[in-house]
Amino acid sequence: MSETINIIGLAGSIRRKSITKVLLQAAQKVAPDAMQITLFPLNEIPIYNNDVEVEEGFPPPVAELRQAIAHADGLILATPEYNGSLTGVLKNSIDWASRKGLLAQKPVVTMGGSPGALGATKAQEHLRQICLHLGMYVMPKPTIAVPKLPDKIVDGQLTDELTCKFLKEQMEQFYHWVVRLKE
Ligand code: FNR
Repeated sequence: MSETINIIGLAGSIRRKSITKVLLQAAQKVAPDAMQITLFPLNEIPIYNNDVEVEEGFPPPVAELRQAIAHADGLILATPEYNGSLTGVLKNSIDWASRKGLLAQKPVVTMGGSPGALGATKAQEHLRQICLHLGMYVMPKPTIAVPKLPDKIVDGQLTDELTCKFLKEQMEQFYHWVVRLKE
């Protein structure tokens, strides 16, 4: 793992104590040294409005997000599940980011977790469909869908060793996925 790559991580929850943010931060910690992950908070991203885009251009927080994505070699999208799908926060950010084909051919991997037994699997299925629709290079596996995620977090840190091991494996695979696609 000699080539350094830059990855943007987006969490589809802006909740202060978000379990999804904890999961993404844990991935950041166990990722290979050659994979530099920058987390971009979505708190300031406004609701997508085509009038605003056409008449005023991208609002500053959106322009910042788009610039970060443009310079990134790939994306990690972490989503909670809301009503059997991804969150509006994440879909809205993807809508802004998708304009002018910015997301096409970007490598992407998804992850999620939930308090219940299914680990945001339905949310991730929808998220991956959207990514495929955009022409992103979706890493098919390993997938990370963590059941009972709040029980695996202590003092804001993911402490479950098995989940950390799975995350490490996914991050290592994603490193190779991104490097291969850059060739
Ligand atoms: C939820 N939650 C939820 N969980 C789930 O497994 N499947 C679901 O369909 C839903 N739907 C849902 C809708 C809404 C509006 C809320 C607020 C919550 C529970 C959800 O997984 C839980 O609140 C997580 O803690 C949300 O992730 P963050 O914000 O902690 O990252």
